Amino acid sequence: MKFSMIFILSNTLLLLSSSAFAKIASPPSLSPTPAPAPAPDFVNLTDLLTVAGPFHTFLNYLESTKVIDTFQNQANNTEEGITIFVPKDKAFQALKKPSLSKLTDDQLKQVILFHALPHFYSLADFKNLSQTGSTPTFAGGDYTLNFTDDSGSVHISSGWSITKVTSAVHATDPVAIYQVDKVLLPEAIFGTDIPPAPAPAPTPDIAPAADSPNEKSADSKASSPSSSSHDGSSSYKIISYGIWANLALATVGVLVLL
Ligand SMILES: *[C@@H]1O[C@H](CO)[C@@H](O)[C@H](O)[C@H]1NC(C)=O
Ligand SMILES: *[C@@H]1O[C@H](CO)[C@@H](O)[C@H](O)[C@H]1NC(C)=O
Ligand SMILES: *[C@@H]1O[C@H](CO)[C@@H](O)[C@H](O)[C@H]1NC(C)=O
Ligand SMILES: *[C@@H]1O[C@H](CO)[C@@H](O)[C@H](O)[C@H]1NC(C)=O
Repeated sequence: MKFSMIFILSNTLLLLSSSAFAKIASPPSLSPTPAPAPAPDFVNLTDLLTVAGPFHTFLNYLESTKVIDTFQNQANNTEEGITIFVPKDKAFQALKKPSLSKLTDDQLKQVILFHALPHFYSLADFKNLSQTGSTPTFAGGDYTLNFTDDSGSVHISSGWSITKVTSAVHATDPVAIYQVDKVLLPEAIFGTDIPPAPAPAPTPDIAPAADSPNEKSADSKASSPSSSSHDGSSSYKIISYGIWANLALATVGVLVLL
């Protein structure tokens, strides 16, 4: 007797709960607007690089070598995403005489491809990456970069030049764009004597050959704690990137809401 009571009770409960569930479950299918539209999160690299920077020289090379299509395609169509290191216009001006102009078209394309990794890395990921040694770039083969994380500041070695990440222009999966101090010169090209270099460097260790005197004095200024006008303007710029990034994020937010 008791058993059947319990049986009936539990059955009623089951019925109640399932009908309640059905009531809860049905409305969404009737609602006319399917809210979470599969947002095509398209990042226009040309747009980003036009607004930030100035990165005009790099952008021009991206376009003249058509590498922009490779990068944009990676950003558009892969789960892996992309990480791009972008030197400012000043970094190209600081290159010594036999700069990029002496390269063949193929070499120039390799140099530009060398500035990106076929994977999205947040700044925090570089700590991890510094343990793995040589990291492949879009240029493939011997064109690898090494990363070291020096208490939060990311240093990049190409074997021929050493530089560091100075700010994050954009870092939202799947696209990361970081500003770097110098043009990344691949040892596979610059380690040979293809660009008839003026004097230097039998040993790659001493090789930050891309330094200009200008840059050196700027570096030494920056390393002193004094607040020169240089320091002020660059930190102002970094802040303004932050504002741009926030604006971009806000825009994305609004788009997603729409
Ligand atoms: C990306 O932005 C550039 C510059 O604003 C524009 O010319 C180009 O048409 C855009 N590309 C796409 C696919 O929206
Ligand atoms: C990337 O996606 C945008 C928007 O869907 C499209 O207009 C553009 O042609 C795509 N570019 C590439 C290289 O896939
Ligand atoms: C990064 O660290 C995570 C866990 O700490 C590990 O699973 C992953 O393999 C590491 N990635 C690289 C590239 O070393
Ligand atoms: C990069 O790291 C690998 C492994 O630690 C090392 O063999 C190689 O010499 C390094 N290359 C550069 C350019 O620092």
